Amino acid sequence: MAAKLMQAIWYEAYGGGPSGLKHVEVPVPVPKNDEVRLKVEAASLNPVDWKMQKGMLRPFFPWKFPYIPATDVAGEVVAVGSRVKNFKPGDKVVTVLGHASGGGLAEFVVSKEKMTVIRPPEVSAAEGAGLPVAGLTAHQALTQSAGVNLEGSGPQKNILITAASGGVGLYAVQLAKLGNTHVTATCGARNIELVKSLGADEVLDYKTPDGAALRSPSGKKYDAVIHCATGISWSTFEPNLSATGKVIDITPGPGAMLTFAVKKLTFSKKQLVPLLMIPKGENLAYLVNLVKEGKLKTIIDSKHPLSKAEDAWAKSIDGHATGKIIVEL
Ligand SMILES: NC(=O)c1ccc[n+]([C@@H]2O[C@H](COP(=O)([O-])OP(=O)(O)OC[C@H]3O[C@@H](n4cnc5c(N)ncnc54)[C@H](OP(=O)(O)O)[C@@H]3O)[C@@H](O)[C@H]2O)c1
Repeated sequence: MAAKLMQAIWYEAYGGGPSGLKHVEVPVPVPKNDEVRLKVEAASLNPVDWKMQKGMLRPFFPWKFPYIPATDVAGEVVAVGSRVKNFKPGDKVVTVLGHASGGGLAEFVVSKEKMTVIRPPEVSAAEGAGLPVAGLTAHQALTQSAGVNLEGSGPQKNILITAASGGVGLYAVQLAKLGNTHVTATCGARNIELVKSLGADEVLDYKTPDGAALRSPSGKKYDAVIHCATGISWSTFEPNLSATGKVIDITPGPGAMLTFAVKKLTFSKKQLVPLLMIPKGENLAYLVNLVKEGKLKTIIDSKHPLSKAEDAWAKSIDGHATGKIIVEL
């Protein structure tokens, strides 16, 4: 019997930007024993998706073409592998796919059971799809790297969040404020009120001299910087850090890696910490529950149908999204 076909978007080589995306009909994927198949309702894009297409993560990702991009998906379970215990057809879920497989820009995906979590009715598909990479990165940076306890206990920490208006930054501001923190944030002038409304205590326009210098208006020295922007040097951070302040760099380039090594080797009290997000299903479930409880919001920059996924792709490459870019099916 011929395999059932689905609409999908893939690219066949490095480069090409939005016009490298091709609309294709491909077989619906079959779940392995430990996987579920979802009918995709929404997927969100992350900068890593177009960076992979540009070849910035070669030779690791993608390691074969054609490649269906996007890892962050919300949808409905339509089939389960023989060893799947916790899901059944009809369940609404959020999942995070691996970068090696990708697959999000398609009508159906298969995903590991352990990376899939139930999505309650209070959380829309778009809100859920926004969470995986951006939300988990903000969560890991704050809890693991910055040592913020999201139950609110512990001494107060001064946190700086750069690019607070982006996908990661907007989750980071809200999560940080669940802990005992004072949050300074940077963003463009047009997003200052939004970032304040989500809890930031003080917000700097990054295009002003004080914003570019990362200077806290109330004179705070930062215990941790959740660095979601790029192109800011150690010499800009250094005078703003507390005695044991850390810069958690989520886009570490060669300069940051050098600073990381030098600070480690010289036993500096101020450190640069490169971060690579390691997805965990339990943390995704925690974030979905926060959205359900109204303690965390997914701010949606824009929604695009799969037929116009190129527009979503171009928007992400442009680098000026406010929150998450969603592709809806
Ligand atoms: N390590 C990891 O595992 C990991 C995980 C997720 C993301 N990342 C990386 O983290 C970075 C952020 O990701 P994202 O999804 O949040 O990106 P994004 O949503 O594309 O960020 C866009 C936002 O950043 C703001 N922005 C840009 N430059 C800024 C600056 N110098 N100061 C203040 N705001 C600035 C923009 O504001 P304007 O429009 O006003 O300019 C825009 O609102 C990317 O480089 C991504 O690849 C790494």
